[in-house]
Amino acid sequence: MIRLEAVLKSYHGRPALRGISTHIERSEFVFLTGPSGAGKSTFLRLLYRAELPDDGRIVVDGYDLAALPRRHVPGFRRRLGVIFQDFKLLRRRTVGENISFVLSLLNLPEKEQQRRAYLALKQMGLHNRLNALPDELSGGEQQRVAIARALVLQPDLILADEPSGNLDPERGHELMELLKSINYQGTTVVVATHDRSLIEAHPARTLALERGHLVRDAWGAQP
Ligand SMILES: Nc1ncnc2c1ncn2[C@@H]1O[C@H](COP(=O)(O)OP(=O)(O)OP(=O)(O)O)[C@@H](O)[C@H]1O
Ligand SMILES: [Mg+2]
Repeated sequence: MIRLEAVLKSYHGRPALRGISTHIERSEFVFLTGPSGAGKSTFLRLLYRAELPDDGRIVVDGYDLAALPRRHVPGFRRRLGVIFQDFKLLRRRTVGENISFVLSLLNLPEKEQQRRAYLALKQMGLHNRLNALPDELSGGEQQRVAIARALVLQPDLILADEPSGNLDPERGHELMELLKSINYQGTTVVVATHDRSLIEAHPARTLALERGHLVRDAWGAQP
């Protein structure tokens, strides 16, 4: 599902990822961990082709990302559900519109868009905030909207960057249970987190980054 070969990425001459090689199978659940600045978000950005590596090769869902023509990028992204560290909600659109906007890419009838948006928000406990604007919600609520938006297209691959960062611990664990149940149905899931307790409570394959190096690939939190 995901293959990285000797991936290098620098910003202004400073390496953020230094020769990462790894392989994630279809239907795997993988944590990406490491201290702040280790390169977790950079790793995920490369996977959804927000950026290209300076060197090395990345293949996601059969697409060699460096060779992917620009016009095919939207089609590629549609197969992914991305939960961003800073949500990236549309500020002038309501909660409901933030979700149905994504669904409109599928050319579904409007009634069906609304129905699916409602169900996705209900799953996140936010169906009573359909008409609110993102700025009227708490950080945790905005995070749940972002999660609903990532899940609503039933993607092959979910990439989540600190998805529990703004949730209280109980909500964070509920989210992990949700991601695990989606994974159980066959979706590949990659979760970047520096929250060790989350990994301890939900053990899975864990890739650890430190200063841009992949320093560990093992099961669960570091001993
Ligand atoms: N757009 C950018 N421009 C310049 N430097 C960047 C950029 N994005 C990331 N970096 C640098 O690359 C390194 C890795 O950053 P990255 O955001 O991937 O870390 P992270 O592991 O996600 O950290 P955090 O836990 O704080 O989110 C850092 O040194 C960061 O300053
Ligand atoms: Mg980050």
